[in-house]
Amino acid sequence: MRTYYIAGNWKMNMTASEARDFAQKLVKKLDGSDVKIMVAPPFTALESVSSIVRGTSIVLGAQNMCHKESGAHTGEVSADMLLDLDVSTVILGHSERRAIYKETDSHINEKVRLALAKGLEVIFCVGETLEERESGKVEDVVLTQVREGLASVEASQLSSLVIAYEPVWAIGTGKTATPEDANAVHKLIRDEMRRSFGDEAADAMIIQYGGSVKPDNAAELMSQSDIDGALVGGASLDVDSFAAIAQFNA
Ligand code: 13P
Repeated sequence: MRTYYIAGNWKMNMTASEARDFAQKLVKKLDGSDVKIMVAPPFTALESVSSIVRGTSIVLGAQNMCHKESGAHTGEVSADMLLDLDVSTVILGHSERRAIYKETDSHINEKVRLALAKGLEVIFCVGETLEERESGKVEDVVLTQVREGLASVEASQLSSLVIAYEPVWAIGTGKTATPEDANAVHKLIRDEMRRSFGDEAADAMIIQYGGSVKPDNAAELMSQSDIDGALVGGASLDVDSFAAIAQFNA
């Protein structure tokens, strides 16, 4: 049985003090939930949110990380810096990082391998653009991202790996993939994991859906056979919306 995993990606929103207040409200609503819950504030709010979620069931995540351990990387944040703030999860390969900051599959792969080697859980994001979907390239694009982004990842590390399928055209647009279309891509990803790592690892793997997940579509998405959670953007910035998504099965 896979445990549902609901994660909030706050993106570039909330100052440290806003984030502290918000995290306090979230803890009141969601500590002790029966699904796994993660929040990923911006780097500057990690410390304040860390102090609030410490000792609760809510897990702390970061939205990115440097591909190198330390040194001359102006503006970057290392895995050890995250671990020191009790961050346990890092989102890597988000489509905004790929599109705006030109992160390539091989660059993302360096980050994934370093994060896993450091003992961080990785939420590894994949997904096609609208143009790619309309030209029938979903399978090709998503499988290439999975193969290249996870190259040289070892079977023993898979328990710390989550994949998030986020169709780019559904992010922040209010358009969601139909539950059936999303599930078809989740199955494709799980089958690829099956080929690379075997049945047991593939069946245990958490595959989240992301892209305009809201309280009113969460239950239907989560009812699909291969959708095991959500990576939530906009709706994670409202305590009631995020709580309603996390309590989709209440
Ligand atoms: P929205 O939920 O705002 O569409 O964002 C999804 C996302 O990009 C989460 O990482």
